[in-house]
Amino acid sequence: MSLLKEPDFGTPARDGAATISLEVDGLPVAVPEGTSIMRAAALAGVDVPKLCATDRLDAFGSCRLCLVEIDGRRGTPASCTTPVADGMVVRTQTPKLGKLRENVMELYISDHPLDCLTCGANGDCELQDMAGTVGLRQVRYGYEGENHLDAVKDQSNPYFDFDPSKCIVCSRCVRACDEIQGTFALTIEGRGFDSKVSPGAGELFMDSECVSCGACVQACPTATLQERSVIELGMPSRSVITTCAYCGVGCSFKAEMRGDELVRMVPHKDGGANEGHSCVKGRFAFGYATHPDRKLRPMVRDNITDPWREVEWDEAIDTVARRMLDIRRRHGAGAIGAITSSRCTNEEVYVVQKMVRAAFGNNNVDTCARVCHSPTGYGLKQTFGESAGTQDFKSVAQADVIMVIGANPTDGHPVFASRMKQRIRQGATLIVVDPRRIDLVRSPRIEADHHLQLKPGTNVAVVNAIAHVVVTEGLVDRSFIAERCEGFDEWVEFISRPENSPEAVQSITGVPAADVRAAARMYAQAPNGAIYYGLGVTEHSQGSTMVIGMANLAMACGNIGRDGVGVNPLRGQNNVQGSCDMGSFPHELPGYRHVSDDAVRGIFENLWGTALLPEPGLRIPNMFDAAIEGTFRGLFVHGEDIAQSDPNVGHVTAALGAMELVVVQDLFLNETAKFAHVFLPGASFLEKDGTFTNAERRINRVRAVMKPKNGMHEWDIVCRIATAMGYPMRYDHPSQIMDEIAALTPTFAGVSFDRLDEVGSIQWPCDEDAPDGTPIMHMDSFTRGKGRFVPTPFVPTDERSTRRFPLILTTGRILSQYNVGAQTRRTANIAWHQEDLLEIHPHDAEDRGITDGDEVTLASRVGTTKLRAKISDRMPTGVVYTTFHYPVTGANVVTTDNSDWATNCPEYKVTAVQVALAHPIVREQEEHALDGVLAAELVD
Ligand code: SF4
Ligand code: SF4
Ligand code: SF4
Ligand code: FES
Repeated sequence: MSLLKEPDFGTPARDGAATISLEVDGLPVAVPEGTSIMRAAALAGVDVPKLCATDRLDAFGSCRLCLVEIDGRRGTPASCTTPVADGMVVRTQTPKLGKLRENVMELYISDHPLDCLTCGANGDCELQDMAGTVGLRQVRYGYEGENHLDAVKDQSNPYFDFDPSKCIVCSRCVRACDEIQGTFALTIEGRGFDSKVSPGAGELFMDSECVSCGACVQACPTATLQERSVIELGMPSRSVITTCAYCGVGCSFKAEMRGDELVRMVPHKDGGANEGHSCVKGRFAFGYATHPDRKLRPMVRDNITDPWREVEWDEAIDTVARRMLDIRRRHGAGAIGAITSSRCTNEEVYVVQKMVRAAFGNNNVDTCARVCHSPTGYGLKQTFGESAGTQDFKSVAQADVIMVIGANPTDGHPVFASRMKQRIRQGATLIVVDPRRIDLVRSPRIEADHHLQLKPGTNVAVVNAIAHVVVTEGLVDRSFIAERCEGFDEWVEFISRPENSPEAVQSITGVPAADVRAAARMYAQAPNGAIYYGLGVTEHSQGSTMVIGMANLAMACGNIGRDGVGVNPLRGQNNVQGSCDMGSFPHELPGYRHVSDDAVRGIFENLWGTALLPEPGLRIPNMFDAAIEGTFRGLFVHGEDIAQSDPNVGHVTAALGAMELVVVQDLFLNETAKFAHVFLPGASFLEKDGTFTNAERRINRVRAVMKPKNGMHEWDIVCRIATAMGYPMRYDHPSQIMDEIAALTPTFAGVSFDRLDEVGSIQWPCDEDAPDGTPIMHMDSFTRGKGRFVPTPFVPTDERSTRRFPLILTTGRILSQYNVGAQTRRTANIAWHQEDLLEIHPHDAEDRGITDGDEVTLASRVGTTKLRAKISDRMPTGVVYTTFHYPVTGANVVTTDNSDWATNCPEYKVTAVQVALAHPIVREQEEHALDGVLAAELVD
């Protein structure tokens, strides 16, 4: 349980030692230089009345409620904007101040609806609180004069209302949108009495630039901006701190409850990853957890053409165990396996891989990270020795140059994007390497210094060209390399070859050589250069090579091992880091230790009491191939919709259709469940106890706010299946699973639920040497000892545009939807994105007679689908782009099974396609009809 109302110190904390001593109302206090009197007073235990100040925002000084008197100074300065001075003596409560504050409050209240008892914010309104605090007893001016009480409500946003009649024009919302979110969607229009908050140029919220992050709602001290759920359900009465179940940023939230009902999710101020900020998904899109589509009873059927039959848990578990054992008896242990989920907790993932290794008797376990960040694990392990990002998110605040490669943080990792944009607004320079003109390239107060708009599939050529410039222009950090790295000379020989120069690769990459040179100099010469990347790096045939290439570049410039630098994957799913850490790969036990290592295997065999296979098992694509060949026959799919999310869907569904037993555990009957024989209902994150690990290796607690609606914990279901298969697995609580993980995994040695509850979150490695965790990795030496330079020759992908398929398709995500959309499509987020669209350049569209909104066919050599076109010059000519949030679009019907050479991560980002009007004949008829109308109009 946590506090519903967190303390607010009025202005942000200042860094540094508490060197300034003062006295507030007779109480001594010492604070760092630059601290406001208001904050010093709060730290001394004195609450100064305030309305326009909050400690998430810089002081503004508009409400004049926080006035104080200072000995030896004239007047009554605002305590929020006045910094402390040594020896200051401050008084916050004097008759004069009391009168002044009463006058201020009187003015506010005289223009405020007197509906406190029925107001949604009753009990959570700072105006109401302040009226009480200053002791307001009467309003002398009456309510008849000019006022704003009839101002019209804006209810266009599906999640919050804007009621301007209650606005006190404190500007907290505007500042939150500017300073925290960085969207600049709100302004204060007009002056004096006429001033009012306005989204955009007097638009509705939904028509403005607002991205519905909720920062303004949280900042608003009145009910002017208020969550609709609070208005409808009433104020929450308790709260539980938990972690968002959407993306790899891993934001902490207070789940605020009223009885058993979740009223709202409020970003937690002390959340290590988000520090009180959120995006629309975590903040508002939790309705899927109670959506009527959710299945709550286990179901079985003999054949996938049979109707489902609801059964009790015992029967469902027995069916899975019996049929898995039967397949194993008839076809051998290698014929069964499982896919773990990056949406589930570490503890759940751990028990699934343990079930496979100990009960199934093989290493046929893989994870959805196979299709996203497996190259990250491989590439960073090869070079740095650890399969994870190097920094914490805070580190970006120290970066001088930020290079974003193949990532779209404002859509994919919005809360981190807000941090990044704050730093860019402070003066850091930005290099974007992406085929698409993502929002970061140009958005309010943000402009990339370089946008290297490369052709899809040429990442490695670009990173090599950047490194070539660094090496040949003498920009390398020689002392860092000499002290901390190996393999440099061999790499230099490779990278300095003329074929890697920007000029030589220009025709391949499409990026002007001069731009590459300028970007390379900018990154190499910055005091701190940081690289952030996403699936636009990994989901390529050379995904692993590119990760290695970026690691080489960072080492060459000495940009590793301190704040503000590093190589940082922006992980996709909420627990993709954790699912990899937990031993979900067929070749690795928890902690990234190879199954062939006898000593490591021995540790697990001792604790698990069973022999383990030393050979790696099947990867997901191998499972599919083997299923089609008939040698792989039983699959347990945990919380993953492989029939929608994996490439070449036709191949995936053929494999699923060929299996004897497909078990799906999920919240919904997803696309994969169409091929399932057993459906095990899952629990939502609101019903789970456990941990998620985010992109900065931060282990966050997930805490249940309600019992599992399906009647059973997911970890318990898995343990029961393993037990029914003859390998007893039993825990009383997920904390015991974490204890076992910690006992077996050196990087988790110091992690336990108790410790997490004590300190909030921990970034692994957490062990004897780093009992509080490790925010920044490779500080004094690399995990593998010396950082290793590895040559990265560019090998073009086999997937090339041809006469038949002349365009290249690349895919990505949009802010309001998440991955295959199973959750977000079941929330009001559909208000922003009802269907996947195909972005196509105006020239390519014109060549094909396509106009905005036309239905088009998108065909590749493996499949065809239909969707609507959106004419956009964000893509260069020759490249089209879409999202994959809707099963009806089936964008992955067209993606091929090309994959990364090292990890089999699919090459989602490069597919040769053709685009054509879906209904050219109908269009012609429409045009004839339109001609007729125009002719008639002309005649009229
Ligand atoms: S919800 Fe977020 S983006 Fe929208 S106006 Fe408020 S702060 Fe700005
Ligand atoms: S909407 Fe709320 S936060 Fe914004 S100016 Fe009005 S009262 Fe202040
Ligand atoms: S940024 Fe990611 S973790 Fe944070 S609220 Fe949004 S979806 Fe959730
Ligand atoms: S709180 Fe200081 S002026 Fe408003």
